[in-house]
Amino acid sequence: MSAAADMRVRRMNFEFPEDMDLVFIEDDPQLSYFFLGAWMMLPYLEPFLIRTVQEAMGQIKDPDLLEEMKRFCAQEGQHFRQHAKANEVIKRRHKAGPQLAALEQEIDALFKRWTAEKPLRFKLAYAEGFESMTSAGARTQMEIGMFDTMKEPIRGLMFWHIMEEVEHRTVCFDAYEKTVGDYFYRLGGGIWAQNHYLKWCKKFAGVMIAADPETIARYDTPELKAKRVKMAQTYLWSVLPKQLATYLPWYNPRTVPLPPQFEPARQEYSRLAMSVQ
Ligand SMILES: [Fe+2]
Ligand SMILES: [Fe+2]
Repeated sequence: MSAAADMRVRRMNFEFPEDMDLVFIEDDPQLSYFFLGAWMMLPYLEPFLIRTVQEAMGQIKDPDLLEEMKRFCAQEGQHFRQHAKANEVIKRRHKAGPQLAALEQEIDALFKRWTAEKPLRFKLAYAEGFESMTSAGARTQMEIGMFDTMKEPIRGLMFWHIMEEVEHRTVCFDAYEKTVGDYFYRLGGGIWAQNHYLKWCKKFAGVMIAADPETIARYDTPELKAKRVKMAQTYLWSVLPKQLATYLPWYNPRTVPLPPQFEPARQEYSRLAMSVQ
């Protein structure tokens, strides 16, 4: 069992200067903008996950799982607050700022409507679909050394966040299993959620890329293109088996292998946090 004590609520205080490099992944503006665009959703998506888990708590009796659900909400609460600070700078700095703000309003309204109108089983399947995907992505990013090619302070924000995604990877799964438990609904709902999320990631990233052709052109050389293709292949080879494993009926986030970078990252961000609970 993933003990609640293994989920630390770290209060971070990242600083995002106005002149921070938005191409934070070395030589890769497209992938940098893909992540920055995806994270624009977090101040709306993560509160939706919190509301969903809080709603499910009413049906859970197991005190250990209840504590883990509380810690999940506390961790996600820290994530979206830190990302919201970065997002403000990104919207001020990037030419697509106004379009990003318009998309934010749309996604905010959507997740609020879902909380009010959708059944809990849909919301939990969405949450677990999202969490199993972030866990597979996070383990891949650590394993292939992606953080070695990134620039601070966005590197720190991402590494801290995905490390905690791995820490709390069992919570939505357990909440779903205890309240809904239907494998085929988890599979269908999870894949639907992942497509939905990725579609919105592409929308956010797309306006950033379209509004900034100068930056994209600066990195448009055959050598840098070849380097990006190699990185994409390395990523796909690592993430695909992890992602496919989450679709199996016997998938359990508790038993997935964890990369060797995970434990040192936990220690590092506990040390850097303003407080740890
Ligand atoms: Fe998160
Ligand atoms: Fe999460």
